[in-house]
Amino acid sequence: MAKLTLTVNGRPWSGDVPEETSLLEVLREHLMLSGTKYGCGEGQCGSCTVLIDGRASRACVTPASRAREVVTIEGLASDGQLHPVQRAFIEAQAFQCGFCTPGMVMGATALLARTPSPTDADIRTALDGHLCRCGTYPRIIAAVRAASTTMTRERRRG
Ligand code: FES
Ligand code: FES
Repeated sequence: MAKLTLTVNGRPWSGDVPEETSLLEVLREHLMLSGTKYGCGEGQCGSCTVLIDGRASRACVTPASRAREVVTIEGLASDGQLHPVQRAFIEAQAFQCGFCTPGMVMGATALLARTPSPTDADIRTALDGHLCRCGTYPRIIAAVRAASTTMTRERRRG
C-alpha cells in the first residue's frame, strides 16, 4: 500500500491505496468524482483527461502516486460560474452523448492556458487523440475557438 497526499480541485485528500493505483481510480472510486470518464483505460481515447500541475494528463495511465495538484471537470467552475470552455461547449452544442466531453474540455482548457489564441491546427493538435464516437469534432473546434475569443475579451476587461 502507498500513502497518498493529493490536492484535488483545491482540496487536500490523503488515503492509503495499493501501489500503482491509477489516478483515475482514485478520482472515481475514492473521491467519487465521476465526471472523469473511464473509456479505453490505456491512454488512447482522452476521456479521462484531467489537469495535473496544469498539464492535460491521462488519469487512467497515471499512477496516483505521481500526481500532486489535480483539477478535474468538477473543479473548473468557480463562484457558481461555469468555466468559459464549459459555456462554449454548451453554446456550440459540442456534444451528443457527452462521454468524451469532460476530457475534451480539460484538454481545451490546458491548450488555452498555454496558447490563448490557437489556430484550428493548434486545436486539432492539442485534441488529437481525444476520441468522440459521436463525431462532434467540428463543433468542438468551434467551441474552443469561441472560448478563446471569450477568454481574451474577459482578460482585456480585467
Ligand atoms: S480512459 Fe484514459 S485515455 Fe482512454
Ligand atoms: S459526444 Fe459522444 S463521444 Fe463525444
